[in-house]
Amino acid sequence: MPDPVEIDSLEDTLRGGYLDLLKACLTRMLFMNDAPGRDSAALAEQRELRQSGWDWPDEAETMIGMVRLDSIQECVSTVIRDEVPGDLLEAGVWRGGAAIFMRALLFAFGDRDRQVWVADSFEGLPPPDAINFTQDVTNDLSHYAELAVSLEEVRSNFARYNMLDDRVHFLKGWFRDTLATAPIERIAVLRLDGDYYESTIQGLEALYHKVSRGGFVIIDDYSTFESCGQAVKDFRVANGIEDEIVEIDWGAVFWRKSTR
Ligand SMILES: C[S@@+](CC[C@H](N)C(=O)[O-])C[C@H]1O[C@@H](n2cnc3c(N)ncnc32)[C@H](O)[C@@H]1O
Repeated sequence: MPDPVEIDSLEDTLRGGYLDLLKACLTRMLFMNDAPGRDSAALAEQRELRQSGWDWPDEAETMIGMVRLDSIQECVSTVIRDEVPGDLLEAGVWRGGAAIFMRALLFAFGDRDRQVWVADSFEGLPPPDAINFTQDVTNDLSHYAELAVSLEEVRSNFARYNMLDDRVHFLKGWFRDTLATAPIERIAVLRLDGDYYESTIQGLEALYHKVSRGGFVIIDDYSTFESCGQAVKDFRVANGIEDEIVEIDWGAVFWRKSTR
């Protein structure tokens, strides 16, 4: 019989291997391998794009890169380890990959209680609201058909990874209509990936007070879009939030909530 230390480390090894394989699938990096006849330079460039999440990939279930997936893993494993109460939520899911990964992390760590909330219009971004959110007018992303992914497609992506169950809840509609009234009690990891000032501040206003002390707030587009970063700055000033903002990569940040 192996002693308990060996069992623990085998568990860790298997969990790490599963999560690494999953990230490689979700980003499609798994399939970007050098082989005779393939253009090595083009391949290296593709891998770099997926590593850093600079592109809108053709097939991958997530456009965020490996660095941001690693950061989600760090945040979720920390709230599980520290027993920070609450669910996991992503607002702005596109094909669902980052939210699928959140559900998989609960599976991999044997969590039995937390829920995963998956919020999106499932029809892309709205036209900028030129009356209430002038910050978005110069960043109109509503015309990009690539950003509109149906609820059926996202559900089927969850099912593809065996992650579609009754602990996954879809909130379909504009954030202004869905987030504040969703039946969520506590949140341990809040991930906002809605690009706009409007989408970001609505997520913060509707949900920040539900984030537990010790929970994480991840803002995917903080440095990508000035208007998104501005929404975060405005919200933090208005609410006296001084928790340190930590850079994840060239676009994304998080902070850990130190207050209730
Ligand atoms: C950049 S994509 C999200 C990428 C995704 N997190 C991933 O892992 O690849 C932005 C998503 O936010 C959604 N979105 C943005 N603003 C929204 C709003 N105000 N209401 C509902 N959905 C919104 C869009 O439909 C789109 O799916």
